[in-house]
Amino acid sequence: MPADNNLDLVIRNADVVTASDRFRCDIGVRGGRIVALGHDLPPAASEIDATGLLALPGGVDGHCHLDQPMPDGMRMADDFFTGTRAAACGGTTTVIPFAAQEKGASLKAAVDDYHRRADGRAVIDYAFHLIVADPTPAVLQDELPSLIRQGYSSFKVYMTYDDLKLSDREMLSVLDVARQNNALVMVHAENADCISWLTDKLVGQGRIAPRFHALARPDAVEREATHRAITFAELVDVPILIVHVSGKEAIEQIRWAQGRGMKILAETCPQYLYLTAEDMGMGGDDGYEGAKCVCSPPPRDPENQAAVWRALTNGVFSVFSSDHAPFNYDDPEGKKLGGTAQPFDHIPNGVPGIETRLPLLFDGVARGKLSLHQFVELTSYRPAKIYGLYPRKGTIAVGADADIVLWDPTRKVRIANANLHHAVDYTPYEGIEVTGWPMTTFSRGELIVRNGEYLEPAAGRGKFLEAGQPEI
Ligand code: URP
Ligand code: ZN
Ligand code: ZN
Repeated sequence: MPADNNLDLVIRNADVVTASDRFRCDIGVRGGRIVALGHDLPPAASEIDATGLLALPGGVDGHCHLDQPMPDGMRMADDFFTGTRAAACGGTTTVIPFAAQEKGASLKAAVDDYHRRADGRAVIDYAFHLIVADPTPAVLQDELPSLIRQGYSSFKVYMTYDDLKLSDREMLSVLDVARQNNALVMVHAENADCISWLTDKLVGQGRIAPRFHALARPDAVEREATHRAITFAELVDVPILIVHVSGKEAIEQIRWAQGRGMKILAETCPQYLYLTAEDMGMGGDDGYEGAKCVCSPPPRDPENQAAVWRALTNGVFSVFSSDHAPFNYDDPEGKKLGGTAQPFDHIPNGVPGIETRLPLLFDGVARGKLSLHQFVELTSYRPAKIYGLYPRKGTIAVGADADIVLWDPTRKVRIANANLHHAVDYTPYEGIEVTGWPMTTFSRGELIVRNGEYLEPAAGRGKFLEAGQPEI
Protein backbone atom coordinates (compact mmCIF):
# COMPACT_ATOMS: atom_id res chain seq x y z
CA MET A 1 0.00 0.00 0.00
CA PRO A 2 1.69 3.33 -1.05
CA ALA A 3 2.47 5.66 1.87
CA ASP A 4 0.32 8.52 0.51
CA ASN A 5 -2.72 6.26 0.48
CA ASN A 6 -3.34 6.22 4.21
CA LEU A 7 -6.28 4.21 5.44
CA ASP A 8 -9.04 5.79 7.49
CA LEU A 9 -9.95 2.51 9.13
CA VAL A 10 -8.64 -1.03 9.41
CA ILE A 11 -10.80 -3.85 10.77
CA ARG A 12 -8.23 -6.43 11.88
CA ASN A 13 -8.60 -10.22 11.93
CA ALA A 14 -11.99 -10.19 10.27
CA ASP A 15 -13.71 -13.52 9.62
CA VAL A 16 -15.37 -12.27 6.43
CA VAL A 17 -18.49 -14.04 5.16
CA THR A 18 -20.12 -13.08 1.87
CA ALA A 19 -22.86 -14.83 -0.08
CA SER A 20 -20.23 -17.10 -1.63
CA ASP A 21 -16.95 -16.94 0.32
CA ARG A 22 -15.43 -17.03 3.75
CA PHE A 23 -11.90 -15.81 4.44
CA ARG A 24 -9.84 -14.24 7.22
CA CYS A 25 -8.16 -10.90 6.55
CA ASP A 26 -7.86 -7.27 7.52
CA ILE A 27 -10.29 -4.85 5.86
CA GLY A 28 -8.88 -1.47 4.81
CA VAL A 29 -11.24 1.47 4.33
CA ARG A 30 -10.69 4.87 2.78
CA GLY A 31 -13.26 7.50 1.85
CA GLY A 32 -16.11 5.24 2.95
CA ARG A 33 -15.15 2.42 0.59
CA ILE A 34 -13.31 -0.84 1.05
CA VAL A 35 -9.91 -0.36 -0.61
CA ALA A 36 -7.95 -3.37 0.65
CA LEU A 37 -8.56 -6.90 1.83
CA GLY A 38 -5.31 -8.47 2.97
CA HIS A 39 -2.97 -9.44 5.73
CA ASP A 40 -0.93 -7.08 7.88
CA LEU A 41 -2.43 -3.91 6.41
CA PRO A 42 -0.59 -0.74 7.52
CA PRO A 43 -1.81 1.17 10.56
CA ALA A 44 -4.82 3.40 10.05
CA ALA A 45 -6.28 6.45 11.77
CA SER A 46 -8.83 4.15 13.36
CA GLU A 47 -8.45 0.44 14.10
CA ILE A 48 -10.76 -2.20 15.44
CA ASP A 49 -10.04 -5.83 16.27
CA ALA A 50 -12.75 -8.22 15.06
CA THR A 51 -11.29 -11.38 16.58
CA GLY A 52 -14.07 -13.81 17.49
CA LEU A 53 -16.68 -12.00 15.41
CA LEU A 54 -18.01 -12.53 11.91
CA ALA A 55 -17.69 -9.66 9.45
CA LEU A 56 -20.79 -9.61 7.26
CA PRO A 57 -21.97 -7.16 4.62
CA GLY A 58 -24.47 -4.78 6.19
CA GLY A 59 -28.05 -5.88 5.79
CA VAL A 60 -30.19 -4.52 2.98
CA ASP A 61 -33.82 -4.35 4.04
CA GLY A 62 -35.66 -4.47 0.73
CA HIS A 63 -39.13 -3.88 2.17
CA CYS A 64 -39.96 -1.57 5.04
CA HIS A 65 -42.33 1.32 5.67
CA LEU A 66 -41.07 4.54 7.27
CA ASP A 67 -43.07 7.73 7.68
CA GLN A 68 -45.36 6.67 4.85
CA PRO A 69 -48.34 9.01 4.54
CA MET A 70 -51.42 7.10 5.69
CA PRO A 71 -55.15 7.54 5.08
CA ASP A 72 -57.96 7.82 7.66
CA GLY A 73 -56.04 9.27 10.61
CA MET A 74 -53.43 6.49 10.82
CA ARG A 75 -49.83 7.47 11.51
CA MET A 76 -46.61 5.50 11.41
CA ALA A 77 -44.58 5.67 14.60
CA ASP A 78 -41.20 5.56 12.86
CA ASP A 79 -39.83 8.28 10.66
CA PHE A 80 -36.54 8.10 8.76
CA PHE A 81 -34.56 8.93 11.89
CA THR A 82 -35.97 6.40 14.35
CA GLY A 83 -36.49 3.75 11.67
CA THR A 84 -32.95 3.91 10.32
CA ARG A 85 -31.54 4.11 13.86
CA ALA A 86 -33.29 0.85 14.68
CA ALA A 87 -32.18 -0.69 11.40
CA ALA A 88 -28.53 0.18 12.12
CA CYS A 89 -28.74 -1.34 15.60
CA GLY A 90 -30.08 -4.51 14.00
CA GLY A 91 -27.20 -4.78 11.52
CA THR A 92 -28.93 -3.22 8.52
CA THR A 93 -27.07 -0.50 6.60
CA THR A 94 -29.45 0.10 3.69
CA VAL A 95 -33.25 0.40 3.71
CA ILE A 96 -35.69 0.60 0.82
CA PRO A 97 -39.05 2.04 1.95
CA PHE A 98 -41.88 3.14 -0.33
CA ALA A 99 -42.84 6.44 -1.94
CA ALA A 100 -46.56 5.81 -2.25
CA GLN A 101 -48.72 7.44 -4.90
CA GLU A 102 -52.18 8.53 -3.78
CA LYS A 103 -55.07 7.87 -6.15
CA GLY A 104 -55.70 11.10 -8.07
CA ALA A 105 -52.20 12.46 -7.41
CA SER A 106 -49.00 12.18 -9.38
CA LEU A 107 -46.23 9.72 -8.69
CA LYS A 108 -43.64 12.48 -8.88
CA ALA A 109 -45.44 14.35 -6.08
CA ALA A 110 -45.13 11.24 -3.89
CA VAL A 111 -41.41 10.98 -4.61
CA ASP A 112 -40.78 14.65 -3.88
CA ASP A 113 -42.75 14.45 -0.65
CA TYR A 114 -40.90 11.32 0.42
CA HIS A 115 -37.51 12.92 -0.20
CA ARG A 116 -38.55 15.78 2.07
CA ARG A 117 -39.40 13.23 4.77
CA ALA A 118 -36.03 11.48 4.44
CA ASP A 119 -33.77 14.52 4.00
CA GLY A 120 -31.79 15.30 7.11
CA ARG A 121 -33.25 12.35 9.02
CA ALA A 122 -31.71 9.07 7.83
CA VAL A 123 -28.63 7.69 9.58
CA ILE A 124 -27.99 4.95 6.99
CA ASP A 125 -28.32 4.91 3.22
CA TYR A 126 -31.65 4.45 1.51
CA ALA A 127 -33.26 3.96 -1.87
CA PHE A 128 -36.97 4.22 -2.67
CA HIS A 129 -39.40 1.77 -4.17
CA LEU A 130 -42.49 3.38 -5.66
CA ILE A 131 -46.08 2.32 -4.99
CA VAL A 132 -48.19 2.72 -8.12
CA ALA A 133 -51.80 3.20 -7.02
CA ASP A 134 -53.19 5.16 -9.96
CA PRO A 135 -51.69 4.10 -13.29
CA THR A 136 -53.16 6.84 -15.46
CA PRO A 137 -51.88 7.24 -19.04
CA ALA A 138 -49.62 10.08 -17.84
CA VAL A 139 -48.13 7.84 -15.14
CA LEU A 140 -47.63 4.91 -17.49
CA GLN A 141 -46.28 6.83 -20.45
CA ASP A 142 -44.26 9.59 -18.81
CA GLU A 143 -43.84 9.62 -15.06
CA LEU A 144 -42.96 6.00 -14.47
CA PRO A 145 -40.43 5.61 -17.32
CA SER A 146 -38.80 8.88 -16.32
CA LEU A 147 -38.60 7.93 -12.62
CA ILE A 148 -37.13 4.54 -13.50
CA ARG A 149 -34.34 6.32 -15.41
CA GLN A 150 -33.77 8.58 -12.40
CA GLY A 151 -33.02 5.68 -10.04
CA TYR A 152 -36.38 4.34 -8.89
CA SER A 153 -36.26 0.98 -10.62
CA SER A 154 -38.71 -1.05 -8.54
CA PHE A 155 -42.34 -0.49 -7.69
CA LYS A 156 -45.03 -2.22 -5.72
CA VAL A 157 -48.58 -2.86 -6.84
CA TYR A 158 -51.43 -4.06 -4.66
CA MET A 159 -54.17 -6.52 -5.52
CA THR A 160 -56.04 -5.57 -2.33
CA TYR A 161 -56.76 -2.51 -0.10
CA ASP A 162 -59.37 -0.10 -1.50
CA ASP A 163 -57.06 2.91 -1.63
CA LEU A 164 -54.27 1.05 -3.41
CA LYS A 165 -55.57 -1.91 -5.41
CA LEU A 166 -55.25 -2.15 -9.18
CA SER A 167 -57.60 -3.94 -11.55
CA ASP A 168 -56.23 -6.89 -13.50
CA ARG A 169 -56.01 -4.73 -16.59
CA GLU A 170 -54.10 -2.01 -14.71
CA MET A 171 -51.71 -4.67 -13.38
CA LEU A 172 -50.98 -5.77 -16.94
CA SER A 173 -50.30 -2.20 -18.03
CA VAL A 174 -47.91 -1.57 -15.16
CA LEU A 175 -46.08 -4.84 -15.84
CA ASP A 176 -45.71 -3.81 -19.46
CA VAL A 177 -44.01 -0.56 -18.44
CA ALA A 178 -41.65 -2.58 -16.25
CA ARG A 179 -40.79 -4.86 -19.17
CA GLN A 180 -40.11 -1.97 -21.53
CA ASN A 181 -37.94 -0.13 -18.99
CA ASN A 182 -36.16 -3.03 -17.22
CA ALA A 183 -37.79 -2.33 -13.89
CA LEU A 184 -39.06 -4.78 -11.30
CA VAL A 185 -42.65 -5.01 -10.04
CA MET A 186 -43.28 -6.21 -6.49
CA VAL A 187 -46.76 -7.65 -5.99
CA HIS A 188 -48.94 -7.74 -2.88
CA ALA A 189 -50.97 -10.82 -3.79
CA GLU A 190 -54.32 -11.18 -2.04
CA ASN A 191 -57.74 -11.31 -3.69
CA ALA A 192 -59.59 -8.11 -2.74
CA ASP A 193 -63.15 -9.26 -3.49
CA CYS A 194 -62.75 -12.51 -1.56
CA ILE A 195 -61.44 -10.55 1.42
CA SER A 196 -64.27 -8.03 1.40
CA TRP A 197 -66.90 -10.76 0.99
CA LEU A 198 -65.45 -12.79 3.87
CA THR A 199 -65.04 -9.67 6.00
CA ASP A 200 -68.66 -8.60 5.50
CA LYS A 201 -69.81 -12.08 6.43
CA LEU A 202 -67.71 -12.25 9.60
CA VAL A 203 -68.64 -8.74 10.72
CA GLY A 204 -72.32 -9.48 9.99
CA GLN A 205 -72.06 -12.45 12.37
CA GLY A 206 -70.54 -10.22 15.05
CA ARG A 207 -67.15 -11.89 14.69
CA ILE A 208 -65.14 -8.67 14.90
CA ALA A 209 -62.19 -9.38 17.24
CA PRO A 210 -58.65 -9.10 15.80
CA ARG A 211 -58.40 -12.88 15.50
CA PHE A 212 -60.99 -12.91 12.72
CA HIS A 213 -58.50 -11.07 10.49
CA ALA A 214 -56.99 -14.51 9.84
CA LEU A 215 -60.34 -15.95 8.72
CA ALA A 216 -60.97 -13.01 6.37
CA ARG A 217 -57.66 -13.67 4.60
CA PRO A 218 -57.25 -17.46 4.39
CA ASP A 219 -54.41 -18.95 2.39
CA ALA A 220 -56.65 -19.63 -0.62
CA VAL A 221 -57.05 -15.86 -1.02
CA GLU A 222 -53.27 -15.45 -1.21
CA ARG A 223 -52.83 -18.56 -3.38
CA GLU A 224 -55.34 -17.37 -5.98
CA ALA A 225 -53.84 -13.89 -6.25
CA THR A 226 -50.31 -15.30 -6.41
CA HIS A 227 -51.32 -17.54 -9.29
CA ARG A 228 -53.06 -14.65 -11.03
CA ALA A 229 -50.01 -12.39 -10.68
CA ILE A 230 -47.86 -15.18 -12.11
CA THR A 231 -50.25 -15.45 -15.05
CA PHE A 232 -49.96 -11.70 -15.69
CA ALA A 233 -46.16 -11.98 -15.61
CA GLU A 234 -46.37 -14.84 -18.11
CA LEU A 235 -48.64 -12.88 -20.45
CA VAL A 236 -46.43 -9.79 -20.37
CA ASP A 237 -43.22 -11.85 -20.26
CA VAL A 238 -41.62 -9.97 -17.40
CA PRO A 239 -40.13 -11.01 -14.02
CA ILE A 240 -42.07 -10.12 -10.87
CA LEU A 241 -41.39 -10.43 -7.16
CA ILE A 242 -44.16 -11.64 -4.85
CA VAL A 243 -43.73 -9.92 -1.50
CA HIS A 244 -44.45 -11.13 2.05
CA VAL A 245 -45.31 -14.74 1.16
CA SER A 246 -46.92 -16.35 4.20
CA GLY A 247 -47.01 -20.11 3.62
CA LYS A 248 -47.14 -23.27 1.61
CA GLU A 249 -50.06 -22.54 -0.70
CA ALA A 250 -48.43 -19.47 -2.24
CA ILE A 251 -45.02 -21.16 -2.14
CA GLU A 252 -46.43 -24.03 -4.24
CA GLN A 253 -47.60 -21.57 -6.90
CA ILE A 254 -44.21 -19.85 -6.98
CA ARG A 255 -42.32 -23.17 -7.19
CA TRP A 256 -44.62 -24.27 -9.96
CA ALA A 257 -43.86 -21.12 -11.97
CA GLN A 258 -40.13 -21.31 -11.24
CA GLY A 259 -40.21 -24.95 -12.37
CA ARG A 260 -41.61 -23.78 -15.69
CA GLY A 261 -38.59 -21.50 -16.09
CA MET A 262 -40.38 -18.28 -15.23
CA LYS A 263 -38.53 -15.54 -13.38
CA ILE A 264 -40.85 -15.33 -10.41
CA LEU A 265 -38.97 -14.05 -7.37
CA ALA A 266 -40.33 -14.16 -3.85
CA GLU A 267 -39.84 -12.56 -0.46
CA THR A 268 -40.77 -13.64 3.02
CA CYS A 269 -40.49 -11.93 6.40
CA PRO A 270 -39.86 -12.75 10.09
CA GLN A 271 -43.57 -12.76 10.98
CA TYR A 272 -44.11 -15.88 8.87
CA LEU A 273 -41.33 -17.72 10.71
CA TYR A 274 -42.17 -16.70 14.26
CA LEU A 275 -45.87 -15.77 14.50
CA THR A 276 -49.03 -17.79 13.90
CA ALA A 277 -52.75 -17.00 13.87
CA GLU A 278 -52.71 -17.97 17.57
CA ASP A 279 -50.84 -14.73 18.21
CA MET A 280 -53.89 -12.84 16.95
CA GLY A 281 -56.00 -14.82 19.40
CA MET A 282 -57.12 -17.64 17.12
CA GLY A 283 -57.20 -19.99 20.08
CA GLY A 284 -60.44 -18.23 21.08
CA ASP A 285 -59.20 -15.02 22.67
CA ASP A 286 -61.50 -12.15 21.73
CA GLY A 287 -59.31 -9.58 23.46
CA TYR A 288 -57.70 -6.77 21.52
CA GLU A 289 -53.99 -7.62 22.07
CA GLY A 290 -54.08 -9.77 18.95
CA ALA A 291 -54.12 -6.51 16.97
CA LYS A 292 -50.36 -6.31 17.60
CA CYS A 293 -49.86 -9.20 15.18
CA VAL A 294 -52.42 -8.21 12.54
CA CYS A 295 -50.64 -8.03 9.20
CA SER A 296 -51.46 -9.08 5.68
CA PRO A 297 -51.20 -11.79 4.60
CA PRO A 298 -51.74 -13.03 8.16
CA PRO A 299 -49.37 -15.35 10.02
CA ARG A 300 -50.71 -18.89 9.69
CA ASP A 301 -49.72 -22.09 11.58
CA PRO A 302 -46.62 -24.16 12.48
CA GLU A 303 -46.91 -26.27 9.32
CA ASN A 304 -46.78 -23.12 7.21
CA GLN A 305 -43.89 -21.76 9.27
CA ALA A 306 -41.95 -24.95 8.50
CA ALA A 307 -42.74 -24.57 4.79
CA VAL A 308 -41.42 -21.00 4.87
CA TRP A 309 -38.17 -22.09 6.58
CA ARG A 310 -37.73 -24.79 3.90
CA ALA A 311 -38.36 -22.35 1.07
CA LEU A 312 -35.63 -20.08 2.44
CA THR A 313 -33.07 -22.80 1.76
CA ASN A 314 -34.30 -24.43 -1.45
CA GLY A 315 -34.18 -21.34 -3.65
CA VAL A 316 -37.86 -20.36 -3.70
CA PHE A 317 -37.17 -17.16 -1.75
CA SER A 318 -34.60 -14.64 -2.93
CA VAL A 319 -35.18 -12.00 -0.31
CA PHE A 320 -35.83 -11.85 3.43
CA SER A 321 -37.20 -8.43 4.40
CA SER A 322 -38.77 -6.98 7.52
CA ASP A 323 -41.94 -5.43 6.04
CA HIS A 324 -41.53 -3.15 9.06
CA ALA A 325 -44.90 -1.40 9.41
CA PRO A 326 -44.54 0.69 12.55
CA PHE A 327 -47.90 1.36 14.19
CA ASN A 328 -48.04 1.89 17.93
CA TYR A 329 -50.37 -0.44 19.81
CA ASP A 330 -51.69 1.94 22.44
CA ASP A 331 -52.43 4.76 20.05
CA PRO A 332 -55.62 6.07 18.39
CA GLU A 333 -53.48 6.76 15.29
CA GLY A 334 -52.09 3.22 15.47
CA LYS A 335 -53.52 -0.20 16.24
CA LYS A 336 -56.31 1.35 18.31
CA LEU A 337 -57.55 3.51 15.46
CA GLY A 338 -61.23 4.06 16.13
CA GLY A 339 -61.06 2.29 19.52
CA THR A 340 -60.91 -1.35 20.51
CA ALA A 341 -64.57 -2.08 19.77
CA GLN A 342 -64.12 -1.59 16.02
CA PRO A 343 -64.16 -4.65 13.73
CA PHE A 344 -60.79 -6.17 12.81
CA ASP A 345 -60.78 -4.60 9.33
CA HIS A 346 -60.19 -1.17 10.90
CA ILE A 347 -56.88 -2.23 12.43
CA PRO A 348 -53.84 -0.81 10.60
CA ASN A 349 -52.05 -3.75 9.01
CA GLY A 350 -48.44 -4.64 9.68
CA VAL A 351 -45.93 -5.42 12.40
CA PRO A 352 -42.67 -3.74 13.38
CA GLY A 353 -39.44 -5.67 12.81
CA ILE A 354 -36.67 -3.58 11.24
CA GLU A 355 -34.23 -4.20 14.10
CA THR A 356 -35.08 -7.84 14.77
CA ARG A 357 -35.12 -9.04 11.12
CA LEU A 358 -31.50 -10.19 11.01
CA PRO A 359 -31.22 -11.74 14.49
CA LEU A 360 -34.44 -13.71 13.98
CA LEU A 361 -33.13 -15.23 10.75
CA PHE A 362 -29.62 -15.68 12.12
CA ASP A 363 -31.09 -17.86 14.84
CA GLY A 364 -31.92 -20.24 11.99
CA VAL A 365 -28.20 -20.33 11.16
CA ALA A 366 -27.40 -21.10 14.78
CA ARG A 367 -29.95 -23.94 14.69
CA GLY A 368 -28.56 -25.36 11.44
CA LYS A 369 -31.62 -24.47 9.36
CA LEU A 370 -29.68 -22.42 6.82
CA SER A 371 -26.05 -21.67 6.09
CA LEU A 372 -24.20 -18.46 6.83
CA HIS A 373 -23.87 -17.88 3.08
CA GLN A 374 -27.61 -18.31 2.62
CA PHE A 375 -28.16 -15.82 5.43
CA VAL A 376 -26.00 -13.20 3.69
CA GLU A 377 -27.55 -13.98 0.33
CA LEU A 378 -31.14 -13.51 1.54
CA THR A 379 -30.57 -10.47 3.71
CA SER A 380 -27.96 -8.45 1.84
CA TYR A 381 -26.51 -9.76 -1.43
CA ARG A 382 -29.69 -10.65 -3.31
CA PRO A 383 -31.73 -7.61 -2.24
CA ALA A 384 -28.79 -5.42 -3.31
CA LYS A 385 -28.68 -7.14 -6.70
CA ILE A 386 -32.40 -7.32 -7.30
CA TYR A 387 -32.94 -3.68 -6.38
CA GLY A 388 -30.03 -2.33 -8.41
CA LEU A 389 -27.63 -1.44 -5.57
CA TYR A 390 -24.92 -4.04 -6.18
CA PRO A 391 -21.86 -4.02 -6.00
CA ARG A 392 -21.92 -0.85 -3.93
CA LYS A 393 -24.04 -2.69 -1.36
CA GLY A 394 -24.48 -6.40 -0.58
CA THR A 395 -20.93 -7.65 -0.30
CA ILE A 396 -17.50 -7.17 1.22
CA ALA A 397 -15.17 -6.53 -1.71
CA VAL A 398 -12.67 -3.93 -2.84
CA GLY A 399 -14.68 -1.02 -4.25
CA ALA A 400 -17.84 -1.72 -2.23
CA ASP A 401 -19.11 0.72 0.38
CA ALA A 402 -17.68 -0.13 3.78
CA ASP A 403 -21.07 -1.20 5.16
CA ILE A 404 -19.94 -3.92 7.52
CA VAL A 405 -21.49 -5.58 10.53
CA LEU A 406 -19.52 -7.47 13.15
CA TRP A 407 -21.63 -10.32 14.49
CA ASP A 408 -21.25 -12.34 17.64
CA PRO A 409 -22.58 -15.70 16.41
CA THR A 410 -22.94 -17.21 19.87
CA ARG A 411 -24.41 -14.37 21.88
CA LYS A 412 -27.85 -15.21 23.31
CA VAL A 413 -30.33 -12.35 23.46
CA ARG A 414 -33.90 -12.32 24.72
CA ILE A 415 -35.78 -9.81 22.57
CA ALA A 416 -37.40 -7.04 24.60
CA ASN A 417 -39.02 -3.91 23.22
CA ALA A 418 -37.36 -1.88 25.97
CA ASN A 419 -34.00 -2.59 24.32
CA LEU A 420 -35.00 -1.81 20.74
CA HIS A 421 -34.42 1.50 19.00
CA HIS A 422 -37.59 1.99 16.96
CA ALA A 423 -40.34 4.35 18.15
CA VAL A 424 -43.00 1.64 18.35
CA ASP A 425 -44.45 0.75 21.75
CA TYR A 426 -44.22 -3.02 21.26
CA THR A 427 -42.52 -5.83 19.41
CA PRO A 428 -44.45 -8.98 18.44
CA TYR A 429 -41.25 -10.92 19.26
CA GLU A 430 -41.13 -9.95 22.96
CA GLY A 431 -39.48 -12.69 25.02
CA ILE A 432 -38.13 -14.78 22.12
CA GLU A 433 -34.53 -15.83 22.71
CA VAL A 434 -32.19 -15.83 19.71
CA THR A 435 -28.59 -16.90 19.26
CA GLY A 436 -26.38 -14.44 17.39
CA TRP A 437 -26.48 -10.66 17.51
CA PRO A 438 -25.04 -7.76 15.49
CA MET A 439 -22.58 -6.01 17.79
CA THR A 440 -20.95 -3.32 15.69
CA THR A 441 -22.12 -1.54 12.55
CA PHE A 442 -20.13 0.54 10.08
CA SER A 443 -21.93 2.60 7.45
CA ARG A 444 -19.58 3.77 4.66
CA GLY A 445 -16.72 3.24 7.11
CA GLU A 446 -18.25 5.30 9.92
CA LEU A 447 -18.68 3.47 13.19
CA ILE A 448 -22.34 4.03 14.11
CA VAL A 449 -23.00 1.17 16.56
CA ARG A 450 -20.22 -0.15 18.83
CA ASN A 451 -20.70 -3.25 20.96
CA GLY A 452 -24.45 -2.75 20.89
CA GLU A 453 -24.23 0.92 21.79
CA TYR A 454 -25.81 3.35 19.33
CA LEU A 455 -23.24 6.13 18.83
CA GLU A 456 -25.66 8.84 17.72
CA PRO A 457 -24.26 9.59 14.27
CA ALA A 458 -25.55 12.75 12.64
CA ALA A 459 -29.13 12.49 11.46
CA GLY A 460 -29.01 13.10 7.73
CA ARG A 461 -25.67 11.33 7.18
CA GLY A 462 -27.59 8.59 5.34
CA LYS A 463 -27.55 9.18 1.59
CA PHE A 464 -30.15 8.57 -1.08
CA LEU A 465 -29.05 5.80 -3.47
CA GLU A 466 -30.13 5.91 -7.10
CA ALA A 467 -30.98 2.34 -7.95
CA GLY A 468 -29.64 0.89 -11.17
CA GLN A 469 -31.17 -1.83 -13.30
CA PRO A 470 -32.40 -4.82 -11.29
CA GLU A 471 -30.20 -7.91 -11.64
CA ILE A 472 -32.64 -10.80 -11.48
O1 URP B 1 -49.71 -5.96 6.71
C1 URP B 1 -48.82 -5.47 6.08
N1 URP B 1 -47.97 -6.21 5.39
N2 URP B 1 -48.69 -4.15 6.09
C2 URP B 1 -47.72 -3.40 5.46
C3 URP B 1 -48.14 -2.97 4.10
C4 URP B 1 -47.91 -4.05 3.11
O2 URP B 1 -48.86 -4.47 2.48
O3 URP B 1 -46.77 -4.46 2.92
ZN1 ZN C 1 -48.02 -5.58 0.96
ZN1 ZN D 1 -45.09 -3.82 3.32
